[in-house]
Amino acid sequence: MTTATLAADAAAPAARKADRGPVAIAATGIAKRFGAGPAVLEDVDLTVHRGEAVALIGANGAGKSTLLRCLLRLVEPDAGEVLVLGERIGALSPRALRRVRTRVGFVFQKHNLVPRLSVLSNVVHGALGRAGLAAMHHATAPATLRAEALASLDRVGLAHLARQRADTLSGGQSQRVAIARALMQRPDALFADEPVASLDPAAGEEVMTLFSGLAREAGLTLLFTTHNMAHALGHADRVIGLRAGRIAIDARAAPALAPQLERFFD
Ligand SMILES: Nc1ncnc2c1ncn2[C@@H]1O[C@H](COP(=O)(O)OP(=O)(O)O)[C@@H](O)[C@H]1O
Ligand SMILES: [Mg+2]
Repeated sequence: MTTATLAADAAAPAARKADRGPVAIAATGIAKRFGAGPAVLEDVDLTVHRGEAVALIGANGAGKSTLLRCLLRLVEPDAGEVLVLGERIGALSPRALRRVRTRVGFVFQKHNLVPRLSVLSNVVHGALGRAGLAAMHHATAPATLRAEALASLDRVGLAHLARQRADTLSGGQSQRVAIARALMQRPDALFADEPVASLDPAAGEEVMTLFSGLAREAGLTLLFTTHNMAHALGHADRVIGLRAGRIAIDARAAPALAPQLERFFD
């Protein structure tokens, strides 16, 4: 492992560094286009500090998902450098890249649970990256992993559903299980791509409250994309807006920001 010096940190004024702590994610000059299509991202710089909760906003097609994926090379950027949790990910071997990815819990709009497996098995799967095949099924997983998965489920308030099949859950419950699974990775950071976009407003608000609360409690860095102004302002410390492939706003989340954010929602 490299102990990388963070360019973004080094360039930041000392006072600001003290305020916001060490850098979790530093991306510079990220560019991406798909095939012969238009540029989706152009020269994007992004810094997220450890323990910070950041909302990434932008109209449909603005490149939010692409940017989130570029940070873990789930999409390969055309240009730029990305530092995640101290690792310069552009230079990593596939194996080292996998190791960094296991330190980042990823929650998608669709939960991607295995429908016919139990809730508990799905949560145990979160440990696949660090425990390997032992985490394939709750029945064959070591007792320690099962206990950890139950504790993880308890954190999202669903320990009582451990034995139930995943395909019997409501949308909100499924996203909670996806969060429990991500926590099971023992991540340092959580990325979420519109984690509540498919839920009704009440369930969405509930899941976002739980999600951001858990991240804050555990001191995890949280980066989420959203289509919802209230979620951006209510659950993030900072809001970053993408427009025409570039970052057009980067500001502390505060109610007074609302009028400036309107144009990032469609
Ligand atoms: N795999 C892909 N192949 C081709 N075009 C893509 C691909 N992924 C995203 N795009 C395009 O890139 C643009 C940004 O998409 P996306 O990052 O999903 O935006 P957002 O998440 O902000 O809605 C869109 O025009 C989309 O069609
Ligand atoms: Mg998207």
